[in-house]
Amino acid sequence: MARRVLTIPRIERRRSRVHGWGVFACEPISKNKRIIDYAGEKITHKESWKRETRYLERGHIWCFRLNNRWVVDGAVGGNVSRFINHSCAPNCYAHVVDGTIWIRAARTIAPGEELTYNYHTDGEATIPCRCRADCDAKL
Ligand SMILES: C[S@@+](CC[C@H](N)C(=O)[O-])C[C@H]1O[C@@H](n2cnc3c(N)ncnc32)[C@H](O)[C@@H]1O
Ligand SMILES: [Zn+2]
Repeated sequence: MARRVLTIPRIERRRSRVHGWGVFACEPISKNKRIIDYAGEKITHKESWKRETRYLERGHIWCFRLNNRWVVDGAVGGNVSRFINHSCAPNCYAHVVDGTIWIRAARTIAPGEELTYNYHTDGEATIPCRCRADCDAKL
Protein backbone atom coordinates (compact mmCIF):
# COMPACT_ATOMS: atom_id res chain seq x y z
CA MET A 1 0.00 0.00 0.00
CA ALA A 2 1.30 3.48 -0.80
CA ARG A 3 2.38 5.50 2.23
CA ARG A 4 0.81 8.92 2.70
CA VAL A 5 2.43 11.29 5.12
CA LEU A 6 1.24 14.71 6.02
CA THR A 7 3.87 17.32 5.27
CA ILE A 8 3.62 20.63 7.02
CA PRO A 9 5.00 23.78 5.37
CA ARG A 10 7.75 25.70 7.13
CA ILE A 11 6.48 28.68 9.07
CA GLU A 12 8.03 30.88 11.73
CA ARG A 13 7.06 33.36 14.45
CA ARG A 14 8.21 36.95 13.91
CA ARG A 15 7.20 40.44 14.94
CA SER A 16 4.08 41.51 13.07
CA ARG A 17 2.82 44.84 11.73
CA VAL A 18 -0.69 43.78 12.74
CA HIS A 19 0.04 43.03 16.42
CA GLY A 20 2.92 41.70 18.56
CA TRP A 21 4.02 38.31 17.28
CA GLY A 22 2.72 36.90 14.03
CA VAL A 23 3.40 33.77 12.02
CA PHE A 24 4.96 33.92 8.57
CA ALA A 25 5.37 31.52 5.65
CA CYS A 26 8.98 30.44 4.95
CA GLU A 27 8.11 28.72 1.68
CA PRO A 28 5.29 28.88 -0.87
CA ILE A 29 2.08 27.30 0.44
CA SER A 30 -0.55 26.04 -1.96
CA LYS A 31 -4.27 26.72 -1.62
CA ASN A 32 -6.09 24.51 0.92
CA LYS A 33 -2.82 23.08 2.29
CA ARG A 34 -3.02 22.12 5.97
CA ILE A 35 -0.48 24.42 7.60
CA ILE A 36 -0.71 23.70 11.32
CA ASP A 37 -3.23 22.58 13.91
CA TYR A 38 -4.49 24.92 16.60
CA ALA A 39 -3.16 22.93 19.54
CA GLY A 40 -3.98 23.46 23.19
CA GLU A 41 -5.91 22.19 26.14
CA LYS A 42 -9.45 21.00 25.38
CA ILE A 43 -11.83 22.61 27.87
CA THR A 44 -15.58 23.09 28.28
CA HIS A 45 -17.33 26.31 27.25
CA LYS A 46 -18.00 27.03 30.91
CA GLU A 47 -14.29 26.86 31.73
CA SER A 48 -13.48 28.87 28.62
CA TRP A 49 -15.78 31.74 29.72
CA LYS A 50 -13.74 32.03 32.92
CA ARG A 51 -10.39 31.92 31.18
CA GLU A 52 -11.40 34.25 28.32
CA THR A 53 -12.47 36.91 30.79
CA ARG A 54 -9.03 36.71 32.43
CA TYR A 55 -7.18 36.68 29.10
CA LEU A 56 -9.21 39.61 27.74
CA GLU A 57 -8.16 41.79 30.67
CA ARG A 58 -4.72 41.67 29.02
CA GLY A 59 -6.18 42.07 25.52
CA HIS A 60 -5.57 38.43 24.61
CA ILE A 61 -7.79 35.94 22.86
CA TRP A 62 -6.48 32.36 23.09
CA CYS A 63 -9.62 30.21 23.20
CA PHE A 64 -10.83 28.71 19.94
CA ARG A 65 -14.30 27.14 19.69
CA LEU A 66 -14.01 23.53 18.53
CA ASN A 67 -17.71 22.61 18.66
CA ASN A 68 -20.80 23.06 20.86
CA ARG A 69 -19.10 21.19 23.71
CA TRP A 70 -15.41 21.99 23.55
CA VAL A 71 -13.03 24.92 23.24
CA VAL A 72 -9.26 24.69 22.66
CA ASP A 73 -7.13 26.94 24.88
CA GLY A 74 -3.97 27.69 22.88
CA ALA A 75 -2.35 29.33 25.93
CA VAL A 76 -2.04 25.92 27.62
CA GLY A 77 -0.06 23.32 25.67
CA GLY A 78 -0.43 25.26 22.44
CA ASN A 79 1.98 25.59 19.53
CA VAL A 80 3.08 28.47 17.29
CA SER A 81 -0.40 28.63 15.70
CA ARG A 82 -1.55 30.63 18.71
CA PHE A 83 0.44 33.58 17.37
CA ILE A 84 -1.45 33.74 14.07
CA ASN A 85 -3.18 37.12 13.92
CA HIS A 86 -6.69 37.94 12.73
CA SER A 87 -7.48 39.60 9.42
CA CYS A 88 -10.79 40.61 7.88
CA ALA A 89 -9.28 39.63 4.50
CA PRO A 90 -7.30 36.57 5.57
CA ASN A 91 -5.08 34.18 3.61
CA CYS A 92 -5.98 31.19 5.81
CA TYR A 93 -9.10 29.62 7.27
CA ALA A 94 -9.85 27.15 10.05
CA HIS A 95 -11.26 23.71 9.27
CA VAL A 96 -12.25 21.24 11.98
CA VAL A 97 -11.61 17.58 11.09
CA ASP A 98 -12.15 14.80 13.64
CA GLY A 99 -11.66 17.12 16.60
CA THR A 100 -8.59 18.86 15.21
CA ILE A 101 -8.69 22.53 14.23
CA TRP A 102 -6.57 22.84 11.09
CA ILE A 103 -5.35 26.20 9.82
CA ARG A 104 -5.38 25.92 6.03
CA ALA A 105 -4.35 28.19 3.19
CA ALA A 106 -7.27 30.11 1.66
CA ARG A 107 -5.15 30.87 -1.42
CA THR A 108 -1.56 30.48 -2.59
CA ILE A 109 0.68 32.10 0.01
CA ALA A 110 4.13 33.46 -0.88
CA PRO A 111 7.24 33.12 1.33
CA GLY A 112 7.42 36.04 3.77
CA GLU A 113 3.66 36.65 3.90
CA GLU A 114 2.09 36.81 7.33
CA LEU A 115 -0.51 34.09 7.93
CA THR A 116 -3.91 35.32 9.08
CA TYR A 117 -7.40 33.95 9.50
CA ASN A 118 -10.71 35.46 10.51
CA TYR A 119 -11.24 34.81 14.23
CA HIS A 120 -15.04 35.15 13.89
CA THR A 121 -15.10 36.17 17.55
CA ASP A 122 -18.36 36.27 19.47
CA GLY A 123 -19.29 38.28 22.55
CA GLU A 124 -18.36 41.88 23.18
CA ALA A 125 -16.01 43.14 20.49
CA THR A 126 -13.50 45.31 22.34
CA ILE A 127 -10.21 45.09 20.43
CA PRO A 128 -9.91 47.46 17.44
CA CYS A 129 -8.78 45.48 14.40
CA ARG A 130 -5.47 46.54 12.86
CA CYS A 131 -5.48 44.19 9.87
CA ARG A 132 -5.22 47.23 7.56
CA ALA A 133 -4.94 50.99 8.03
CA ASP A 134 -8.62 51.80 7.50
CA CYS A 135 -10.19 48.75 9.13
CA ASP A 136 -13.01 49.72 11.50
CA ALA A 137 -13.85 46.21 12.73
CA LYS A 138 -13.42 45.04 16.32
CA LEU A 139 -12.37 41.63 17.62
C1 LIG B 1 -4.03 34.52 19.27
S1 LIG B 1 -3.21 36.00 19.74
C2 LIG B 1 -2.21 36.36 18.35
C3 LIG B 1 -0.76 36.62 18.73
C4 LIG B 1 -0.50 38.02 19.21
N1 LIG B 1 -0.12 38.88 18.08
C5 LIG B 1 0.63 38.06 20.26
O1 LIG B 1 1.70 38.63 20.04
O2 LIG B 1 0.42 37.47 21.34
C6 LIG B 1 -4.60 37.04 19.62
C7 LIG B 1 -4.36 38.45 20.06
O3 LIG B 1 -3.56 39.16 19.11
C8 LIG B 1 -4.08 40.45 18.88
N2 LIG B 1 -4.53 40.56 17.48
C9 LIG B 1 -4.62 39.56 16.59
N3 LIG B 1 -5.07 40.00 15.40
C10 LIG B 1 -5.27 41.33 15.55
C11 LIG B 1 -5.75 42.34 14.69
N4 LIG B 1 -6.12 42.11 13.42
N5 LIG B 1 -5.84 43.60 15.18
C12 LIG B 1 -5.48 43.88 16.46
N6 LIG B 1 -5.02 42.96 17.33
C13 LIG B 1 -4.93 41.69 16.88
C14 LIG B 1 -5.21 40.66 19.86
O4 LIG B 1 -4.67 41.26 21.03
C15 LIG B 1 -5.65 39.24 20.15
O5 LIG B 1 -6.19 39.14 21.41
ZN1 LIG C 1 -9.75 44.07 10.14
